Amino acid sequence: MTDLSPRTWHRRASRPVSVWMVVFLLAALASPLISQPRWLLMHIFTLGILTNSVVLWSQNLTERFLQRRLDDSARPAQLTRIYLLNAGVITVIAGQLLAPAWGRHWVVTGAGAALVAAVLAWHAAALGGQVRAAGPGKRHRPAVLGYVAASLFLVVGAVLGAALAAGLPGAWQVRVLHAHLLANVGGFVGLAVMASLSVLFPAMWRVNGAGDRDRISIPLAAAGTALAVVGSFAGPRAAAAGVLVYTAAWAWMFLGFVANVVAVARDPRGRISFPGVSVFAGLIWLLASMLWYAARLFAGAPEPPSLALLMGFAAQVLIGTMSYLIPTTMGGGPAAVRAGLAELARAGWLRVIAFNAGLAGWLAADSPAAQGVFRIIAFVALVSFLPLMARAARVQVSAIKGLS
Ligand code: HEM
Repeated sequence: MTDLSPRTWHRRASRPVSVWMVVFLLAALASPLISQPRWLLMHIFTLGILTNSVVLWSQNLTERFLQRRLDDSARPAQLTRIYLLNAGVITVIAGQLLAPAWGRHWVVTGAGAALVAAVLAWHAAALGGQVRAAGPGKRHRPAVLGYVAASLFLVVGAVLGAALAAGLPGAWQVRVLHAHLLANVGGFVGLAVMASLSVLFPAMWRVNGAGDRDRISIPLAAAGTALAVVGSFAGPRAAAAGVLVYTAAWAWMFLGFVANVVAVARDPRGRISFPGVSVFAGLIWLLASMLWYAARLFAGAPEPPSLALLMGFAAQVLIGTMSYLIPTTMGGGPAAVRAGLAELARAGWLRVIAFNAGLAGWLAADSPAAQGVFRIIAFVALVSFLPLMARAARVQVSAIKGLS
């Protein structure tokens, strides 16, 4: 572990995300043969792809946001966290796969969830240490504190997931399911996205940021999530109040983004890009799903909008953000970065429209045949990112070599 140059470290740390993307594809193809394909696909995506991405990029972006690069001697501990996280994720999935055959499978799931929770608590402490060391004057301090809060919400969400796997009496299973979704999707994924986009959204659209909205939105979203999670135990109305606070926090941040988009629409100059449009569309899914969710909770007939949140929001924002971050992090000069960005933006409008229309059709269609067709359209549009990512890396590397 002594020769961890930045490139080696980043390659090793980012490998699990690529491996989980392939596992996701294989599991989707094999889903007719699997006993709980919905749970499995959702958790390969959330624990395998999303959690690895958040742990990797929240560290990378913390260093950029605090303008304080860590010494290479800090990398082995980061890599250990990533390996332990993946051991935990594999154990959780193995535990749930054992469910049909073994009544006490939840012991295995619980052990995996405990490992995931411990790694995220360690990650939160590591990021918290970097905030403290950077001092109070840093402009993007709220964003990094957002990463700390996001990680802590996964600690809570993992414990709730273990309880769900064990099975709870009466109404508790449903209440805890809502708390689990709110802590994980609203708190963990939502806060990590909010923290990242508070800085990256204006950068993707190549405009100046619209003020310091992160100072209000990030703490308010954390408070809203905490209220929603605790409220879920009391019943749907209390959870709805928290979801509304959370949505208000996002709406405040989103208004700043709308101002960015309007400024670009008035004078585009080539600034409308695949990453920016995907992320913007993803946030519309988040706001609409959360408003719908709050309305259902108030009506006392809650249904978690899991698909809309995981696909419309989380997957779309992840792919949009990666399409921006991977080329800009690889670097190599403006021409090389432009070449990488251009590959990842191929057929951008077609992909964004096909994905959003496919997902909306999938959610709205009544007949299984129509749902199947829409689902395939949405998946193909989403998964087209994978070959483009491989091509973009090749093109950017050859552009870098051509320059040197
Ligand atoms: C840390 C380990 C985790 C464990 C042990 C776990 C366990 C579970 C279990 C057992 C259920 C099914 C509950 C039921 O149907 O009664 C469930 C549902 C769910 N989980 Fe997790 N989970 C974990 C992490 C996550 C993460 C990180 C996310 C999102 C970022 C997530 C999102 C969801 C969602 C959206 C559902 C509802 C699925 C649906 O609508 O069918 N989980 N989880």
